Amino acid sequence: MRIAVIGAGSIGLLWSSRLSRLPYEITVLTHTIEQHQQIVQAGISCVELDGQMNHTSVKSCPIGDTSELSSFDIIFITVKQYQLPNVMELVQRYSHPFTQILFWQNGLGHEEAIGELHHRPDTYVALTTEGAYRKSGTHVVHTGQGETWIGTFPHQEQWKPLLHDFIQTLQPIIVSPIREENMILKRMWEKLAVNAVINPLTTILEVPNGELLHGEFENMIEKITAETCQVARRVGVELDHSRTIKKIKEVCRLTSQNLSSMLQDVQGRKQTEIEAINGAILRYAKEHNIPVYYHEMLYTLVKAKEAQNKRNTSVL
Ligand code: PAF
Repeated sequence: MRIAVIGAGSIGLLWSSRLSRLPYEITVLTHTIEQHQQIVQAGISCVELDGQMNHTSVKSCPIGDTSELSSFDIIFITVKQYQLPNVMELVQRYSHPFTQILFWQNGLGHEEAIGELHHRPDTYVALTTEGAYRKSGTHVVHTGQGETWIGTFPHQEQWKPLLHDFIQTLQPIIVSPIREENMILKRMWEKLAVNAVINPLTTILEVPNGELLHGEFENMIEKITAETCQVARRVGVELDHSRTIKKIKEVCRLTSQNLSSMLQDVQGRKQTEIEAINGAILRYAKEHNIPVYYHEMLYTLVKAKEAQNKRNTSVL
C-alpha cells in the first residue's frame, strides 16, 4: 500500500512518523525543497509522550516537483485550510478511483475542497486534538494525548475496512470512527469550539495551552463558547455549553505544554488559520444576525499580529 502525507507541519510529521511503522510505503510531500532534503537525509524524529525519541525513514518529494510520483492508495492532507486550493490538483492527479483521502484541517472550509473532488466515495474528515510541536524540518514532539475522530464526508453508510483496520494500529494515537450521519458536523463544530478558544487566546497571550486553565480566563472562555454555541445552534448543531467548556479545559490539560498551531504559525511568521476558525464563526454569525463580540475581538487581535509580522518581515 502506498500512502502520501501532503504537508509536513507538526500533524503531518506526527502522522508520517506513526504511519512509517506500518509495512507500507510512506511519502511525505513538503512545501520546500530544503525540508524535502532534510527528510531524505535525516528521516523523521519524533519525541513521544514518554520522552522516547523514535527515528524513522520515509520517502519524500517537494510539492513543486512531483513528476516522479505515481498514484497513492491513501492520501493524508495535513496542509492548512488556506493552502488547500494549492494542493487539490495534486490530490486529483495522484489518486486512483479507490484512493482514500483524509482531510486533517482545523476550522471550517474544507467542505469546499472536498466538493471539488466531485463526490468521490472515499473522502474523510479527520478531527484531532493531539498536541504536536514541530521543532525543526524533520523533528516533531508529541506534546499531548488528544482524541482523533474520522468520518466519511459526505456521509457514507459503508466504510472501506482497509482504513479502519490500519488506523487501529497507530497507538498511542487512538482513532474513533464516526458512523452516524449527523455526528461528523457536530464533531466539526466541537473541534471548532475548542480551537476558537485555545488558538487565538494562546496566540495573543503567547502562552502554552495549559496557561488557559488559570482562573482569570474562566469568564472569557465561557463567553466565547456561549457565542460559539449560539451560532452553532443557528446552523443546526446543538453544542452543550458546559460540556464544551469541559472539553476545552480537558484539551488544555492534556496538551498543557503545547504551543497551539496558531501560536506556532505566528512565531514562525506564517499565515494563521484564524479565517477558518473564528473567521468562520464570524461569517455564520453575520449571516444569521448574531452579535459575537468576543470572536470579533479575538479575530481582530490575531489579524493585527499577522499584520505586525508582515510589516516586520518586509522591513528586514
Ligand atoms: O491547533 C492546535 O494547536 C490543536 O488543534 C490543539 C488541539 C488546540 C492543540 O494545541
